[in-house]
Amino acid sequence: MSSVKTAVFPVAGLGTRFLPATKSVAKEMLSIVDKPLIQYAAEEAFEAGINKLVFIVGRTKNSIIDHFDKAYELESELALRGKDRMLKVVKDVIPDGVSCVFIRQSEALGLGHAVLCAEAAVGHHPFAVLLPDDLIHNDGDGCIKQMVQVFDEYQASIIGTQTVAIEESGKYGMVAGGQVTDRVAKVEEIVEKPAPADAPSDQAIVGRYILTPGIFDLLRTTQRGAGNEIQLTDAIASLRDHEQVLSYSFEGRRYDCGSKIGYLQATVDFALEHDELAKDFRRYLKTLEL
Ligand code: UTP
Repeated sequence: MSSVKTAVFPVAGLGTRFLPATKSVAKEMLSIVDKPLIQYAAEEAFEAGINKLVFIVGRTKNSIIDHFDKAYELESELALRGKDRMLKVVKDVIPDGVSCVFIRQSEALGLGHAVLCAEAAVGHHPFAVLLPDDLIHNDGDGCIKQMVQVFDEYQASIIGTQTVAIEESGKYGMVAGGQVTDRVAKVEEIVEKPAPADAPSDQAIVGRYILTPGIFDLLRTTQRGAGNEIQLTDAIASLRDHEQVLSYSFEGRRYDCGSKIGYLQATVDFALEHDELAKDFRRYLKTLEL
């Protein structure tokens, strides 16, 4: 059985790229077709055998807490109306045996600081981190399940990576190192948001990590870095001085739903795969003169 049972969802960012939508609604509650981004990420975690979800929330994120709460009134109303399929959809938001913890990050000091806020809830165990605005679809095993399998084999922190155009390096943490297998590499260099000329490779960190608890000690002393925020990437760079850190080039397609274009691409692709919508939506798209 896997040793990774806890997932942290840092969802306390301000979501400025989606204002005004995100003025009072969490970015992670924006839906791709009919399911909020946070639910896709939670389901990816369930699939990997994770049974404790730790959400790091900010002030405008109460809708996330409500989403994962039991909805007694809604459930009894759906039962009364015989809407069994929708009742199951609502009940499956949190499967039996999964617990949720919500922690406020009172100031958005950065992703690294958000992960540090999870320390007491995580304890001294390896844990996954999922950024729900990176929506990852794979027909086979989901991204975090693939990464948990790699963790179980190597017992080392794993960073999910993807090849990006080098001109995009300023948007990502970038890593380089020696290949161990086709998809696994040792992290030898890691830098947050470098200019293309300073990027160590074209391998970008995306929003999936498996981390050992040693990261917390390092996060406590990590100074503000790129964007004047406490960066998780900087703490991972220090972790390398103490432990092996690996990168894993996952199988699947990532949509950057923190950006409008990525959000729209995901919406179109997911609608084209949706049981109820695919046929009508495809027909509609064909009428567009592009
Ligand atoms: P982003 O860089 O996407 O920032 O954060 P953001 O605030 O969510 O969105 P924009 O750029 O203003 O539009 C990456 C991830 O880190 C979390 C965010 O919620 C997102 O999941 N985060 C960031 C925190 O939880 N706390 C922070 O202080 C910063």
